[in-house]
Amino acid sequence: MEQNLQGKVALVTGAGRGIGKAIALELAAHGAMVIVNYNGSKEAAEKVAEEIRSMGGQAVCCSCNVADAEACEQMVKDLLSQFGKVDILVNNAGITKDNLILRMTEEEFDRVLDVNLKGTYHTIRQLAKNFLKNKGGKIINISSVSGVLGNAGQANYAASKAGIIGLTKSIARELGSRNVCVNAIAPGFIETDMTAALSESSRAALEERIPMKRLGQAREVAALAAFLASDKADYITGQVICVDGGMAM
Ligand code: NAI
Repeated sequence: MEQNLQGKVALVTGAGRGIGKAIALELAAHGAMVIVNYNGSKEAAEKVAEEIRSMGGQAVCCSCNVADAEACEQMVKDLLSQFGKVDILVNNAGITKDNLILRMTEEEFDRVLDVNLKGTYHTIRQLAKNFLKNKGGKIINISSVSGVLGNAGQANYAASKAGIIGLTKSIARELGSRNVCVNAIAPGFIETDMTAALSESSRAALEERIPMKRLGQAREVAALAAFLASDKADYITGQVICVDGGMAM
């Protein structure tokens, strides 16, 4: 595989499993030194880092709840003192707490916004100086087709993912003159723990809505992340790119 991310330091949030794990593996396969952030399972994150090392790559794990502003500040301080810089930031950590609006509690609404949207804000806020100082870098935020199209039962999640799109475009405008590219990936339905909970019937109904008639794979999202992280994407910023089998066109 082309080692076009050699010498780059990449932070991937929520990289212990699913799409984040696939992105961590893909960036490492292209030569990046990957920081595998996790909040829940240390074992899972360590496994990802070990998998990277076993294929000859470099990786370390770091624990941080991205919804916690102070924890993010501390994480960034630690990473910058250890590695000196971060070149690639992938805001992947995310949760769902689905409910119809009539039943959705304020707690469910706030929790999803706190992790998905504010978590993305916290890491960007803490790393902005680093990117400005380095006069370059790539920020990749994981949104969702739910944020583009809306989705019944996901008012909180869709609001957080639509918020990520506004955040992405605003930061792209702020940091563009310093050569920092900020883009969002909006995956459709991807086979991960998040979608494994779907019943057979809702899965079949879902596939019917997708022009390509299948769910996506995490590696299909990761391939785009690796491209956006590379210098091949140096003139792409402020974009929302759907990886969704045609759902949101
Ligand atoms: P997942 O649930 O398998 O993985 C999410 C990861 O984020 C987990 O490792 C979890 O521990 C971590 N995380 C959760 N809260 C955190 C916090 N406060 N701080 C740090 N890490 C935290 O989900 P999946 O499917 O891999 O999703 C990854 C991203 O892709 C999410 O942002 C999700 O919203 C988005 N996405 C997923 C789609 C899908 O179909 N699976 C579709 C569209 C978007």
